[in-house]
Amino acid sequence: MSRVLHRSVRTAPPRAVAGQGIHVTLADGRTVMDASGGAAVACIGHGNQRVAKAIGEQAGRLAYAHTAFFSSDPAEELADLLVGERPGGLTNAFFVSSGSEAIEASIKLARQYFVEIGEPQRTRFIARRQSYHGNTLGALATGGHPGRRRVYEPLLSAKDKSGAAFGVAEEFGLEASMADPAGTLADLAERVAPRWSR
Ligand SMILES: Cc1ncc(COP(=O)(O)O)c(C=O)c1O
Repeated sequence: MSRVLHRSVRTAPPRAVAGQGIHVTLADGRTVMDASGGAAVACIGHGNQRVAKAIGEQAGRLAYAHTAFFSSDPAEELADLLVGERPGGLTNAFFVSSGSEAIEASIKLARQYFVEIGEPQRTRFIARRQSYHGNTLGALATGGHPGRRRVYEPLLSAKDKSGAAFGVAEEFGLEASMADPAGTLADLAERVAPRWSR
């Protein structure tokens, strides 16, 4: 009997024991082609010896450096790689361990930024319809996936005395356009602002 709390409490999924590239080997000997890269966010593949060696060497040298007190060579080198050429004007990287954490951090970063430039009234976030941003409550509150939100709706921040609110673009009759993100955002802000100030 499995003691892991699986997504279904009635059945346990097949056990994966090894992998090579996009193929995963199961305990019963079957091989599965993982064509989507897990949840469609993993792209390095299994059994990549260069990656495994680098992880092993770093873990053997220094396992963890708390960012309140230290920086580290891997963090500095990765930041240089990601934003060294200032892509789109980005100049600094902030490292976290998951997408959920990244969303939580970006919500807080946006808030902190506006407090520090003297615009503390900015407390609202707008998401795209059906968007998913992770397992945590802040990410769920920001996302626009009705099915995933339903059970937790009373716990998700809604417009309250502090003015905090999370809204979904669809609610305002507009879906963000990737072709013109700045124009879409401006349009959205014009429609949303009067509703939220009522
Ligand atoms: C846009 C986006 N944000 C956040 C997440 C959550 O990431 P994680 O599962 O690493 O917490 C995902 C994962 O699919 C995602 O696609």
